[in-house]
Amino acid sequence: MHTTKPIGVFDSGIGGLTVVRHLIKQLPHERFVYLGDTARVPYGNKSAPTVERYSQQCAEFLLTHDVQCIVVACNTASALALQHLRATVSVPVIGVIEPAAVYAYQQSINGVIGVIGTRATIGSNIYSTTLDRVSHGNVRVHSTACPLFVPLVEEGWLQHAATRSIAEQYIEPLLACGVDTVILGCTHYPLLLPLLGQVAPAVQWIDGGSPTAKYVADNIVQHLHVNEHPTVPPTIPEIRMYVTDTSPMFQQLATQFLGMPSQEPVRVTIEHLTAVSQW
Ligand code: DGL
Repeated sequence: MHTTKPIGVFDSGIGGLTVVRHLIKQLPHERFVYLGDTARVPYGNKSAPTVERYSQQCAEFLLTHDVQCIVVACNTASALALQHLRATVSVPVIGVIEPAAVYAYQQSINGVIGVIGTRATIGSNIYSTTLDRVSHGNVRVHSTACPLFVPLVEEGWLQHAATRSIAEQYIEPLLACGVDTVILGCTHYPLLLPLLGQVAPAVQWIDGGSPTAKYVADNIVQHLHVNEHPTVPPTIPEIRMYVTDTSPMFQQLATQFLGMPSQEPVRVTIEHLTAVSQW
């Protein structure tokens, strides 16, 4: 039987579309419901209880769309709220941290791995503890918060001299520690890949969206239904987009993050989110 249930994805804003991009590649036949909490972005400088509460509300909104699973595209929400969501939500909840950590461990040759992310993600130490666990203590991890990257990406300064100079300052201490692999621990950072590749060409940059999508395809979706897909996937992926606030920049940024034009988003108010949630 082929389920008609969509895959739910949420993020603090539109950055999570970089993860949806990989999900579409891995699962071209699936339907998606995306919620971007654009009224309350950024999550990356908020406290754990606040990120937990917001994430719970996002997850419960997705449940009202009868989703088969929830992908937490936001690294900060994955870092601070995943355990809580798994304990309270009735469908499988997949975060981006563990798939990225496993993949980085597989890719690193010298076992010295860097992690960059928001202040909240880096402060949580989640990547270090996860890398330590999945490698059985066989890696050294060096992390640094890069709070200026999110606004620079949203400004479209992907190749700007200022961004390059800031990137050099953020990355230099990691290079000095001998990292050969660096996890892009934030939804926005994959857009900086061309620039980061120029700043540190010898480094392998890990976009967690790709291993996360593969994990969902291999372990979650196929377990829920027997595939009886039509042979040709839809040319335009079906993504129902919801945001908690709209901005004139949305469509342009969404296209950049998703790598293709997207549907007009529907606005849901924070009041609606809190009303469907008990949190
Ligand atoms: N989506 C967030 C993350 O991946 C970045 C933006 C924010 O700070 O909310 O951590």
